[in-house]
Amino acid sequence: MTSAVQIEVYATSAAASLTCAAEAAARAAAEPELVLGLPTGSTPRQLYAEMVRLHRAEGADWSRVRVFNLDEYWPIDPGSVHSFARFMREQLLEPGGFDPARTFLPSGTVERGAVDRHCAEYEAAIAAAGGIRIQLLGIGVNGHLGFNEPGSSWSTRTRLVELAEVTRRRAAPSFFPDPVPTHGISMGLATVLDAEEIWVLAFGAEKAEAVAAALEGPVGVACPASVLRAHPRVRWVLDEAATARLTRSR
Ligand code: GLP
Repeated sequence: MTSAVQIEVYATSAAASLTCAAEAAARAAAEPELVLGLPTGSTPRQLYAEMVRLHRAEGADWSRVRVFNLDEYWPIDPGSVHSFARFMREQLLEPGGFDPARTFLPSGTVERGAVDRHCAEYEAAIAAAGGIRIQLLGIGVNGHLGFNEPGSSWSTRTRLVELAEVTRRRAAPSFFPDPVPTHGISMGLATVLDAEEIWVLAFGAEKAEAVAAALEGPVGVACPASVLRAHPRVRWVLDEAATARLTRSR
């Protein structure tokens, strides 16, 4: 497979986020029913704030854009302050004027016995929308994508996954005094690779090692993000700090 890796380095995460938001808005203007795959976490916060600002101040119209979120904790109530459903609703979907009927997240409340069917339906909904046009991603400090932790096979689809210890540890302060869920439902690596285009955002020194491993380390399941080297259209959007461990690609 040929890979055309594009690496963009910005002075700050704010500058990177503004650029991505403006480009997403231009894409949605050209293709109102654009299908976006979206992540949660601290990384996309500034991007989502700018997408909301563009909607409120400059008339960016997200109302027909379809959104499929990458992952959700399981089990978790969508009203919980810790749920990705609530994060998306508050940070982007409601203030950005998205249509709730066109935005989808894996369910944190589906019964254990119905999880597999729910995941298959999530994949079917993505396919029915014509597939994801632009998949935006953050990256974990251990190289995870969504909740595809190290060891995840490249053939994985949306499924229930057990969270890595480091993932739960990093989430612990924000969950305190509640425990971090042990599981999540995540799009798989094959689901991510199906996207036509991928934008990976990584900001800050704490991501430098994962970025270097993904771009320059061995390609394999030890670093889930290394799978992106098998995709023909990946754009890495980095701030200076996140490039600190890169050698060849700098
Ligand atoms: C979380 C999420 C991912 C996210 C990543 C990085 O656990 N499951 O979707 O991209 O870890 O999070 P952050 O952007 O907060 O560093």
